[in-house]
Amino acid sequence: MNMFGDAEAYERFMGRWSGLLGPHLVNFAGVRDEGKVLDIGSGTGALSFCIARQKNHCQVLGIDPSDGYVKYAKSRNPVPERVSFEAGDARQLRFPDETFQCCLSLVVFNFIPDVRKALDEARRVTEPGGCVAAAVWDYAAGMRMLRVFWDAAVKVDPGAEKLDESHMPLCRAGELEELWKQGGLEDVSSRPLDITMRFESFADFWDPFLLGQGPAGAYLRNADSRRREALREVVKRRLAIQREDGRLRLQARAWAVRGRAPKAG
Ligand SMILES: C[S@@+](CC[C@H](N)C(=O)[O-])C[C@H]1O[C@@H](n2cnc3c(N)ncnc32)[C@H](O)[C@@H]1O
Repeated sequence: MNMFGDAEAYERFMGRWSGLLGPHLVNFAGVRDEGKVLDIGSGTGALSFCIARQKNHCQVLGIDPSDGYVKYAKSRNPVPERVSFEAGDARQLRFPDETFQCCLSLVVFNFIPDVRKALDEARRVTEPGGCVAAAVWDYAAGMRMLRVFWDAAVKVDPGAEKLDESHMPLCRAGELEELWKQGGLEDVSSRPLDITMRFESFADFWDPFLLGQGPAGAYLRNADSRRREALREVVKRRLAIQREDGRLRLQARAWAVRGRAPKAG
């Protein structure tokens, strides 16, 4: 089963948090309120909808290789006259050079195998001087929801260490920035983006992990019920959960990068 593709499940697990992170990336990228913006790896549409909400005059196009996500994003699109979605791969964009005033990507570059190719494509389709920006969760430290999960998983099952998302590429300070500089972007800068995740209850935190989404969901899907139960208990302890129906707040950090497509000449 694909790690991505079940839109409803992804939405419950991660998409809801992308909706909180997205506005920070839009601000950091300095998206202008005009022209066309590309959302690379648009998933269930969270970032595209943020851009449309914050910038009333932009046309937004989201591309994603998952047909299921594209269909879901289209079905929830509140502004179809300004936002559209289609299937596509970041490494081979169908658009002519300099089509977009800005290209954005939220929590995608860490999942793309030939990431330099994807960046070259983003730079190519961005107008000279336009912004190419991306963000990736700080899986190794600041993204508490996943950190608590993986630290507990390794405690229960040392074999989980090799699957721990702290091994994700581009998730540490400076890594995206280095890629952007190597990729020929100009005026490159990077910063952390922080959000607070608010969960209604422990179930609101834990149950979405059982939906098979992302590496953590895939790990749980392959674990037997005893291991799942043991892991749930360790997670509860580490979160100091006293009452399962109590609310929970966790900080989550992502690293963002921005750079300008070079001007010709
Ligand atoms: C963690 S999800 C993020 C989705 C969305 N940007 C969000 O923030 O909710 C990662 C997304 O990257 C997409 N993806 C994976 N490989 C890709 C590629 N080569 N080109 C474009 N998108 C890709 C997946 O289909 C998935 O939708």
